[in-house]
Amino acid sequence: MINKPNTSTDKQETSASVAATEVTPSKQTAEYELKCEINGVPVSTATEPSRRLLHILRDDLGLTGTKRSCEIGRCGACMVLMDGKPVNSCLTMAYQCEGASITTIEGLTDARSERIKEAFLQEGGFQCGYCTPGMVVSTKALLDDNPCPGRAEIEEGLSGNICRCTGYGGIVRAVCRAAELEGEERGQ
Ligand code: FES
Ligand code: FES
Repeated sequence: MINKPNTSTDKQETSASVAATEVTPSKQTAEYELKCEINGVPVSTATEPSRRLLHILRDDLGLTGTKRSCEIGRCGACMVLMDGKPVNSCLTMAYQCEGASITTIEGLTDARSERIKEAFLQEGGFQCGYCTPGMVVSTKALLDDNPCPGRAEIEEGLSGNICRCTGYGGIVRAVCRAAELEGEERGQ
């Protein structure tokens, strides 16, 4: 089931405004050197092994499209893909990212992701927009797994994402629309 609470953000950050090639570690903190790939770019950054991926992305690398909210794994605002699977970056430690391929909202630039973003715009799948990056990331993971999901599968796919605004109608319509656009792309 999808939950329903409220928050706010700026739309610019939801529009994948930070290019993958702009990933530049700004903060060198500790003895551990994390090596991974972020948005297709190899990254090597000094950090604490227990530092949260959310903080590395936002505070060290300036990738602020990934949102910080509950920080306890409940809201999905911080969702990113790790090796193609959605994970809450607030619950993912640096050492768990070693060698992994991380994709943030800024890195979702493939054709499917663009269709998803277009569908969110067409169907008003955002209100304040704070949850939208996480919703888009989860939708991408859902459609990668199942390009033609039914309503129950959509609700299940977004069950880890909370929107704190008025409801989920536009969001669910957006995911349905994204699936439709997929079908149109395949000529169905
Ligand atoms: S900030 Fe990570 S789940 Fe809420
Ligand atoms: S929390 Fe504002 S659009 Fe979802």
